Amino acid sequence: MSRAQIVRRHGGPEVMQLEDRDPGAPGPGQIRIANKAIGLNFVDCYERSGLYKVELPFVPGNEGAGVVTAVGEGVEDIRVGDRVGYIGPSGAYAEERLLPAGRAIPLPDHIDFETAAAAMLKGMTAYYLLFETWKLKPEETILWQAAAGGVGLIACRWARALGATVYGTAGSPEKVELARANGCHEVINYREQSFAKRVRELTGGRGVDVVYDSVGQATFEESLDCLRPRGLMVSFGNASGPVAVPNLGILATKGSLYVTRPTTKTYFASTAELRHAAKMLFAAIGDGTLDIVVHQRFRLADAADAHRALEGRQTTGSTLLLP
Ligand SMILES: NC(=O)c1ccc[n+]([C@@H]2O[C@H](COP(=O)([O-])OP(=O)(O)OC[C@H]3O[C@@H](n4cnc5c(N)ncnc54)[C@H](OP(=O)(O)O)[C@@H]3O)[C@@H](O)[C@H]2O)c1
Repeated sequence: MSRAQIVRRHGGPEVMQLEDRDPGAPGPGQIRIANKAIGLNFVDCYERSGLYKVELPFVPGNEGAGVVTAVGEGVEDIRVGDRVGYIGPSGAYAEERLLPAGRAIPLPDHIDFETAAAAMLKGMTAYYLLFETWKLKPEETILWQAAAGGVGLIACRWARALGATVYGTAGSPEKVELARANGCHEVINYREQSFAKRVRELTGGRGVDVVYDSVGQATFEESLDCLRPRGLMVSFGNASGPVAVPNLGILATKGSLYVTRPTTKTYFASTAELRHAAKMLFAAIGDGTLDIVVHQRFRLADAADAHRALEGRQTTGSTLLLP
């Protein structure tokens, strides 16, 4: 029998319960995967708490990697025994799961299961944010909020490799050092000082071209104060709570700013888009642009502890759950 974490009501980490659960045989267009490693992501917390709408009961988890154990009718390009990784839909906190075959990505030899589960959702997000939401250029300057986090460590390294000037924020002296070692030219401890004031100093008063902010409520408005006139605010997460839509006039008074609120669901709507981003990520890992390190490991049975650590700002970089 296979085990999975099940959420039957929204709430804190304790609502996840490890239960026996047979995922069943794959239906048409589906595959069954025996997970070898599962990625922990903040979206898992939003779905567990009810901030993001999901139908109950459900198995959380949006990232993983493992071996295909069965394929359903009509699946042609994936076979039993293949090594695959995936991002979404939820259902990853399980020893075995079903997945639409179009969401599975065959893993090249140089990507092991832990690397895939540690890098795919975070790294493919970094990819679309740096290459598609805004095509970052070498002469540009960005601010990345929570630069020592899972997405942050990968994205700042990648942005630095593109030649951009990268400023980051982080919430402790240790995190500041970690972000500095992973691509940031300068890191601001935003628990100790105003990051907008420091960004103005660093940019000679001009402001940065783009702010990437996944902290959300606590930093949104001050992030706008970091931008140059007509700069872009990319608000892509809610670690501190969701951002209420502001009076749009604020964008005029702060310099005719642009704001976008992107999600992987739109950027990776098709299998072709998904696989293209994975290809770019795997190439960046293969050529050494990115160095994927697992910073924390928990047993699948201890998923609640992993959520407490992530929401409590106790983690850095990528975290895995191991079945
Ligand atoms: N839109 C998309 O397509 C997309 C895709 C993937 C991820 N995301 C978003 O990207 C963000 C990063 O995801 P992740 O999984 O890599 O998480 P993470 O960055 O590893 O963890 C979140 C970090 O946010 C900072 N933070 C600031 N205030 C916080 C608060 N009140 N509560 C908790 N954390 C706070 C903490 O760093 P400090 O201690 O340094 O402040 C914390 O470590 C999340 O908001 C996630 O939803 C969005």
